[in-house]
Amino acid sequence: MYDVYKIRNDFPILKEKINGKKLVYLDNAATTQKPLSVINATSDYYKHYNANVHRGVYTLGAIATQEYERIRKKVADFIGAEESSCIVFTKGTTEAINLVAYGWGRKFLRDGDEVILTIMEHHSNIVPWQILARERGIKLKFIPLRDDGTLDMDSFYSSISEDTKLISITYVSNVLGTINPIGEIVKIAHNIRAKVLIDGAQGIPSIPTNVKNLDVDFLAFSAHKMLGPTGIGILYSKREILEEMEPLLGGGEMIKRVSIFDSIWADIPYRFEGGTPNIAGVIGFGEAIDYLNNLGMDEVFKHEKILTAYALEMLSSLDGITIYGPKDINLRSSIISFNYKKVHPHDVATILDQNGIAIRAGHHCAQPLHDALGISASCRVSLYVYNTKEEIDCLIKSLEKVEKIFSYGT
Ligand SMILES: Cc1ncc(COP(=O)(O)O)c(C=O)c1O
Repeated sequence: MYDVYKIRNDFPILKEKINGKKLVYLDNAATTQKPLSVINATSDYYKHYNANVHRGVYTLGAIATQEYERIRKKVADFIGAEESSCIVFTKGTTEAINLVAYGWGRKFLRDGDEVILTIMEHHSNIVPWQILARERGIKLKFIPLRDDGTLDMDSFYSSISEDTKLISITYVSNVLGTINPIGEIVKIAHNIRAKVLIDGAQGIPSIPTNVKNLDVDFLAFSAHKMLGPTGIGILYSKREILEEMEPLLGGGEMIKRVSIFDSIWADIPYRFEGGTPNIAGVIGFGEAIDYLNNLGMDEVFKHEKILTAYALEMLSSLDGITIYGPKDINLRSSIISFNYKKVHPHDVATILDQNGIAIRAGHHCAQPLHDALGISASCRVSLYVYNTKEEIDCLIKSLEKVEKIFSYGT
């Protein structure tokens, strides 16, 4: 039985008052709150076994290394990866995508090769490819949206060609909430021998996912969007792909042997983890995965669906609201962006903040998508494991206050 009130007790920050009001945290797509177990796990590392990993022969170093590697295996199991060597710890989704662009793209992509993206990508899955396009002369193609906020699959089919080498696409839009048909896209890509990178930043926290069944080539995601600490993320790829990739960062721990003019890279995944990693972040992430596994990812997904349906129903009942993204609940996640009564999103968010409600306002690092929608900014509500229907009611009531304050705008 999913008991959201019991779950809320595990998150100390949810007891905080903001501007004298109970915190209503609805910006989970930006970052999620952390349960006490995650907070304690990171501080336990510093209190009890702080040492660098893969270096010291002394006991403390061995314990830290053992924990760090144990969590690599936990991450592999969480996404159904075949082995833990296919899991690279990065700083986050952004670094993971950059690692693919530089470690794989720079080596294998040539002038005239095509990389297919979509108009709904986060800047993290656009800018690295633009940089590579400047450097390598590759061609970027962007798949547009249908009116309902889903990907235009006809355009997708007509865009691919024998020059397509990579399809790099978000699992879930961080603005529209659209869940993309990853399985279908992987099949099409593999038919033309292209690789697929999934930006899982908004998908992995909510949707039970098995990379082996999906057969994705690369998957990037961030711990902080799934109850874990900031500064830690994952690049998953298949062994044979990682073996061929070049490192992004040169330095300590990513080599087997260094001589003055040359070096031999370490085995995967260490080749991609130059320098001292975010050990406390990894330890905390392990605890976040335990927390989600205990809830059950199917239950997490179900809880979000129920809340999203409720939020969509309540928001739709407001006059003067434009909600972006699919109306069909089966096609979307718990991210809902909207504009209200021609009031600037920053004004909406500021008024909500006075009532203790945290939502995101702006372009959400998706300016090309906002351009395509013909707007410069939107308000975004994003829900997660600890959110309740009462919090949505509170949001609606506060939006009604926005209406009163800005009624001249209607
Ligand atoms: C879809 C998507 N991709 C990538 C990112 C970047 O994640 P990070 O900042 O953790 O690297 C985000 C963050 O909001 C996102 O929503």
